[in-house]
Amino acid sequence: MELLAALRNRHSTRLFKSQPVSDEEIRALCDAALLAPSAMNSQPWHFYVATGDSRNVVGEIMSLTTLHLQEYIEVLGVEVVERAARFYEDMGMAPVIIAVATPVFTDSTEQRDAYIAVGAAIENFLLLAVDSGLGACNISAPRWVVDQLMDAFGIPENNVIASLIIVGHPDEAPLAQERHRDVVTFVSR
Ligand SMILES: Cc1cc2nc3c(=O)[nH]c(=O)nc-3n(C[C@H](O)[C@H](O)[C@H](O)COP(=O)(O)O)c2cc1C
Repeated sequence: MELLAALRNRHSTRLFKSQPVSDEEIRALCDAALLAPSAMNSQPWHFYVATGDSRNVVGEIMSLTTLHLQEYIEVLGVEVVERAARFYEDMGMAPVIIAVATPVFTDSTEQRDAYIAVGAAIENFLLLAVDSGLGACNISAPRWVVDQLMDAFGIPENNVIASLIIVGHPDEAPLAQERHRDVVTFVSR
């Protein structure tokens, strides 16, 4: 697939078929991720992949977030919260849930750089997923259950979960989300 086609076809997938994804496929996506640029080539990422029983443990933990979502009804509205709650209940049946961890830095610039690099790595991952006929979604919502997730994924101290990625064979054709176009300013002198 052409790069631009992959960019255009990438959408967040939140509903998956039960068909599993092989370890080889996941490894290929992670291999694409680690080609991303990083400050001083620090490569501040590690991918913790949960499938099978470990995926179910992580899924159980994520389903706890549905309770906390209720606190946002006034801000987000009932419909959005209910849709989100249905999704977190089973994570769209995604067969694979990955935690992308990055080190904790005391220096805020280093921490920022780490998150930027992780974001670039995740985008590589998502693009190859599209190219491979898979669907995926970046999930940063698990803020209420971070400690349980750290434990379930076996992530060492002094690291933090930057994001989760869910992956699988899509069971939906998500609509393209609108994009703001007025985000470029050519600075004149
Ligand atoms: C940093 C980041 C965090 C995100 N967190 C969530 C999340 O917690 N739950 C979710 O359903 N989608 C999450 N998404 C997916 C976005 O909602 C999605 O990218 C956005 O709505 C645009 O839609 P698209 O990816 O289909 O183009 C996240 C995306 C990014 C980049």
